Amino acid sequence: MTTAVTGRNPGSPMPSKITVPELRARKSSAGRGDKLAMVTAYDATFARMFDGAGVDAILVGDSLGMVIQGGTSTLPVTLDEIIYHCRAVARGTQHAHLIGDMPFMSYQTSSDAALVSAGRLMKEGGAESVKLEGGQEIADVIRRMVRMGIPVMAHVGLMPQRVHAMGGFKVQGRSDDGADAILEDAIAVADAGAYAVVVEGIPAPLAERITRAIDVPTIGIGAGVGCDGQILVSYDLLGLNDTMKPRFVKRFQEFFRLGAEATRAYIDEVRSGTFPGPEHSFGMPVENRNPVTDALSPRHVPATYGPTH
Ligand code: KIV
Repeated sequence: MTTAVTGRNPGSPMPSKITVPELRARKSSAGRGDKLAMVTAYDATFARMFDGAGVDAILVGDSLGMVIQGGTSTLPVTLDEIIYHCRAVARGTQHAHLIGDMPFMSYQTSSDAALVSAGRLMKEGGAESVKLEGGQEIADVIRRMVRMGIPVMAHVGLMPQRVHAMGGFKVQGRSDDGADAILEDAIAVADAGAYAVVVEGIPAPLAERITRAIDVPTIGIGAGVGCDGQILVSYDLLGLNDTMKPRFVKRFQEFFRLGAEATRAYIDEVRSGTFPGPEHSFGMPVENRNPVTDALSPRHVPATYGPTH
């Protein structure tokens, strides 16, 4: 069946998609498969790049409020905005599993609200599962969503939607009590049916403890190497985020610097008149040339008459 979101054609073979059961089964710490490699994406071109490179899953994260919209937190991001970016990412994704992030206050008020929001992410955005932040207090909401057939990835530890409650983007679970509470959160959301749990901004030994304690994969970000998989915000991974580099980020490229260098080269060539060259210009068939205007304004006539397209 053709879908508006993916544009697949009737009768064409469906590309093999990574499914929720496959992701849930990838408990690498228990010897069940390779570690999961996940990234965030917000548009079709980046999605095609990550998908082609072979990531397991792409998250349309509410981090877009910071890296795309330039805000200082994820709080203002709306459900409509996530859906918009999700649709674009869906068009660029053939193989990776596609997760839509549930933005602040799209699920906290009731399980009804959560179902409606998640439903919109899947129906309108093309998400194949959703992610939400929270621990024991959100477990009943997750349980109901999962019973209704909505696959949920949970997110515990440093929860960016609680930046004000936490007093900033700070590592969580450094005290014994704090660590125990995060462990209980992870157990509660896994028991409620989450198929994987993001563990963000916690000490590596706590992430290892959580990974041992639950039977679904843990996906770490700023949580050390002992998780079943990792996720990074793509703008951090590619070095597109020039304004900050948290300790847990490794830039695998320097796209911002490379982009600035390319732009400077473009400016130089425009100003010196070396771009566009004849190979970037369109010609006109000789029989269509107007000898009068050619003669009047010779500088508007391309030096060579190449192909017209
Ligand atoms: O919004 C986001 O990008 C996230 C990941 C960093 C896990 O939640």
